Amino acid sequence: MGLILKIFTTEPLIHILSWAHETLKESNTLTFEVLNPDITGGTYAGESITIDNQTYLYRGYKAWSDLGEILFCRLLTPTIASAHTVQITYEKLDLSDSFHHSDAKEEKYGADSRFAALHKNEEPAFLSPYLRALRSVHVGEKKRILNLGINTGDEFDLIRQILSHEEYLKLELVGIDHSQTAIAHARKRFSEGNATFYIHDINDLAILDLGRFDLIITIGTLQSPGIDFKLLFMKLVQEYLTPNGAMILGFPNCRWMGGEMIYGAKAPNYPYSEMTLLYKDVYYCKKYLQQKKFRVTLTGKDYVFLTGTKIRQSLII
Ligand SMILES: C[S@@+](CC[C@H](N)C(=O)[O-])C[C@H]1O[C@@H](n2cnc3c(N)ncnc32)[C@H](O)[C@@H]1O
Repeated sequence: MGLILKIFTTEPLIHILSWAHETLKESNTLTFEVLNPDITGGTYAGESITIDNQTYLYRGYKAWSDLGEILFCRLLTPTIASAHTVQITYEKLDLSDSFHHSDAKEEKYGADSRFAALHKNEEPAFLSPYLRALRSVHVGEKKRILNLGINTGDEFDLIRQILSHEEYLKLELVGIDHSQTAIAHARKRFSEGNATFYIHDINDLAILDLGRFDLIITIGTLQSPGIDFKLLFMKLVQEYLTPNGAMILGFPNCRWMGGEMIYGAKAPNYPYSEMTLLYKDVYYCKKYLQQKKFRVTLTGKDYVFLTGTKIRQSLII
């Protein structure tokens, strides 16, 4: 059992947050005792609850998990402390353990990189909006699908999982990435014969003579250094989409550190997550697609998903 440093009852969250910040300056873990959230359901954070003459401010595990994330900590399994209380323990994440710090160029995201440890489809906050995006474009009806920055192919893998084998084999998948090792892995992983992978710079697509696609997916890639975001995006819409083609763009709004996906992208010149660049790019794409008669939705949290589908002319009044 961890050492109990504090028991919180009616202290406001600002008090707990300041205490946690101070404590984590000196220690890699912190433990405190609070009302057991299981004591009641349907209660909002901050509501007063009195049990056995002791008043508490209620907070659920969602609040304690969010606080851990904000403090760059992982939440350990809470333990029962008394009839009505639990001990919450946070452990600091190893923030140096991240692919974000790598200087390797094409192989920053290669098979031997720390990035290769990520399985985005196993993160609910990624899986759910990506799945929704795939469903809303009716992915099974899209014959040719292009993925830019495919890496080892997780985005194709989910498509394979949600379609029947027959539906999946009817698709023609094309994936492009400049990481040799990631593409080597993708080629092994998708050996059914309907997927083609290129080790190639996506700034120079013309030379590949790819033709047009019914769906273009690109996640966490267009904003990479060395890519002229707007130019490439407009080129994709104008030269690589079929007239009824759809787009799924994923914009990261998180960092991967010490085994966790932490909400909020790191912004240049800010010591905290700041979202001007994200909003600017997302809004640019939304406006552009709307002008080209796409219906555009924005969903997601740690990844913002922009989904664009063509508005059928007969529906435009
Ligand atoms: C952040 S990763 C995202 C990978 C994958 N889409 C995902 O979300 O897991 C960006 C990918 O784009 C690739 N990439 C970045 N710039 C590229 C370029 N100019 N040409 C080709 N691939 C590029 C990287 O190698 C990497 O696999």
